[in-house]
Amino acid sequence: MLASPAESPTLPKRRVGQIAAHASILDAIGGTPLVRLSKLFGDAGLDVYAKLEALNPGGSIKDRPAYNILSRALAAGDINSKTTVVESSSGNFAIGLAQVCGYLGLPLICVVDIKTTAQNVRIIEAYGARVDLVSKPDPVTGEYLQARLNRIKEILASVPNAFWPNQYANRNNSGSHYGSTMPEIVEVLGPELDYVVLATSTCGTLRGCADYVREQGLRTRIVAVDAAGSVIFGRPQGKRLLPGHGAGIVPTLFNNDLAQLVVHVSDLDCVLGCRRLVQQEAILAGASSGGIITAVERLANEGQIARGSRCALILADRGERYLDTVYSDSWVQAQLGVDAISV
Ligand SMILES: Cc1ncc(COP(=O)(O)O)c(C=O)c1O
Repeated sequence: MLASPAESPTLPKRRVGQIAAHASILDAIGGTPLVRLSKLFGDAGLDVYAKLEALNPGGSIKDRPAYNILSRALAAGDINSKTTVVESSSGNFAIGLAQVCGYLGLPLICVVDIKTTAQNVRIIEAYGARVDLVSKPDPVTGEYLQARLNRIKEILASVPNAFWPNQYANRNNSGSHYGSTMPEIVEVLGPELDYVVLATSTCGTLRGCADYVREQGLRTRIVAVDAAGSVIFGRPQGKRLLPGHGAGIVPTLFNNDLAQLVVHVSDLDCVLGCRRLVQQEAILAGASSGGIITAVERLANEGQIARGSRCALILADRGERYLDTVYSDSWVQAQLGVDAISV
């Protein structure tokens, strides 16, 4: 039942000081809100907050490394106004780079493959970047990832003054989370934070958060959520349908001692977690966020996360980019063989 108008929550008027007047769109990156997930985790006795990275202006956590990598390269003189930025990415990092390059006036070539969604291609192009499509896998490995890397090398050799951010190996990728994501969480939730839960692909988030926790001597334990079928944590490669988390290579940024707990989640785990998150907390998030929700539920049920624990979940992106997959019953039926989704 709805509360009477007198008791119902109202839209709070933000105080001056809480609202920033940013110098540019790049200045609006970071500082994302933490939202308590009391409906999903209240019964389990957990104090859980979601860090909503979807509220970055480019719609995902990858705005942070895109900005950090390019601004540091500019400051170091590695790039200048004549540089063309070239990267292999078909998802959030490409969009983050397209936003930063668009603002800085730098040409960007995004090397994508045929698995890239039409929507992401349109977003990247709408920012003014060029999309370079690789339509065949590498003849030696049979992998699209290798084919995209081959194409990057061709472009680097032929385009003068080209710069490759190389997100899988760039310390300014993890540095963005060491310098912003993790300190923001600790500043708001306090150093007594028990767990931070994050998804892995380049391992930039994992590396940056783990470096911060170790350097500050925090008790916080890091839970890494990877895709079933991803090779990051030494498992064999397998089929994965949902983009974002998981990798077909072990990133240079990875190290074996960064996470205290590792959970592998299937595509269906992601769908179910996303559906529960939107149904109970009205947060429409991307696939890896659903994987994180399922992973935390699993760890709580198994008693690996104790009642009373305070947890921060880093939810990487928004659900709009997954309307034709995670939030489509017909896609779930056709691809995952599940008829009626009941959450
Ligand atoms: C939706 C989503 N979740 C998780 C990740 C993993 O982040 P990282 O590359 O820092 O490991 C990414 C990376 O692109 C992503 O797009």
